[in-house]
Amino acid sequence: MAPAEEPTAATPPPPHFVIVPLVAQGHTIPMVDFARLLAERGARASIVTTPANGARLRGVADQAARAKLALEVIELPFPTGVDGLPPGIENLDQVTDNNHFAPLFDALWRLAGPLEAYLRALAARPSCIVSDWCNGWTAGVATSLGIPRLFFHGPSCFYSLCDLNSVDHGLPKQTAAAGDHEKFVVPGMPVHVEVTKATAPGFMNSPGWEALSAECVEAMRTADGAVVNTFLDLEDQFVACYEAALGKPVWTLGPLCLANKDDADAMAARGNKADAAQRSAVTAWLDAKDAGSVVYVSFGSLVRKPPKLLVEVGHGLEDSGRPFLWVVKEAEAVAPEVRGWLAALEARTAGRGLVVRGWVPQLAVLSHRAVGGFVTHCGWNSLLESVAHGVPVVTWPHFSDQFLNERLAVDVLGVGVPIGATAPVMIFDDENMPVEREDVARAVAALMGGGAEADERRRKAREYGEKAHRAMEKGGSSYENLTQLIESFRKRGGKQG
Ligand SMILES: *[C@@H]1O[C@H](CO)[C@@H](O)[C@H](O)[C@H]1NC(C)=O
Repeated sequence: MAPAEEPTAATPPPPHFVIVPLVAQGHTIPMVDFARLLAERGARASIVTTPANGARLRGVADQAARAKLALEVIELPFPTGVDGLPPGIENLDQVTDNNHFAPLFDALWRLAGPLEAYLRALAARPSCIVSDWCNGWTAGVATSLGIPRLFFHGPSCFYSLCDLNSVDHGLPKQTAAAGDHEKFVVPGMPVHVEVTKATAPGFMNSPGWEALSAECVEAMRTADGAVVNTFLDLEDQFVACYEAALGKPVWTLGPLCLANKDDADAMAARGNKADAAQRSAVTAWLDAKDAGSVVYVSFGSLVRKPPKLLVEVGHGLEDSGRPFLWVVKEAEAVAPEVRGWLAALEARTAGRGLVVRGWVPQLAVLSHRAVGGFVTHCGWNSLLESVAHGVPVVTWPHFSDQFLNERLAVDVLGVGVPIGATAPVMIFDDENMPVEREDVARAVAALMGGGAEADERRRKAREYGEKAHRAMEKGGSSYENLTQLIESFRKRGGKQG
């Protein structure tokens, strides 16, 4: 007869992770994937955000509820009366003026009080806070409540290692004093990486951001570890060097996008809402195309191209002669001259090109057999999603980590064709004309064409895609890292508040 269970040996509560994403699509999406994975693997996950951002996550929360997952979305009230911030702006993609970014971060910093109040009100202290690298304000809250804290870092370990090594070797001081075209070798890297003043690593490094940036760096130094959306087989030497340079564990758990595998609703719910009719129109259009024939063109959630640059992209795609699926944002397409021009382009390329205004579910597109290439801004999520689906890229970096992500894709992984962008563009800058139609046509033709180089890029991308899927399956490095992460906090967590 089996002994009756000891009444004192009640199952301990699962470890509880409080996830605090930065309020920007590119940062929130992988952290939501991470939260759902935690819940699917038996942990409890609470995503902390603000009301307007919580509204965007309603689909995620509903789906989790239907699947009976311990995943919840907590909305902290958005701070009011912040100098210089117009009402209604709660997410970086709602910013319409470069001068609004700093006040938006001021507002985020004021969420420390509400976060602390939420945590104190819980029946038990959570096991761990995982907050975005840019949410340096969470460090003080975690310390005052004695809760372990990991930082989630959006970019590749390759980028983060470049960044850390640059700071540790004083590169920012050298580049600050340098001319625009002077080249620097990033110190301490296991491979040769060259940058200019404009493409050197560093987040929040424009004038006026010093205090905020210093706080985030300090929060990184005092964290208990890092969570990164990457996988060992993609960049193992950089993961190892980054872990050594940080001096704390780096949990590589990605590609997190593959948590949505085979689930069209999950793929659609995680990003901005694509209209359902538009979604099926895109799928039907792709269904009619040959395998690997279509180039997908999209520049992430923040970039807005001014009319004259949009026209260059359109002409370049037309001149490339390849089938294309091009996502143009509503905000880019509203100007009357753009509307007329786009309509004419659509008429000229009917059957070969599809221009979508708004959003498409990117994972559904990248996993479609018709898509054979991606023209990307090299935001890490986009690049990783492409690699995870075996799709090679044309790299067109715009700002922050994107120039170094390009170096990883082109020089290290061998899956990219550079479009030739050499300097960042501000998000709403319409003076720079960094890329012209010939660049677009040339790069797309090289990516989608035949020949040994193009075949080799496709072969490498396919290989990384297979390794990415293996990493996320039981026994794979990312899957097992997540198991370890949950287990290590099961031991520490659940203390009574
Ligand atoms: C993640 O998994 C790899 C390979 O299995 C292992 O070497 C590494 O130590 C793990 N990372 C952490 C932080 O445990």
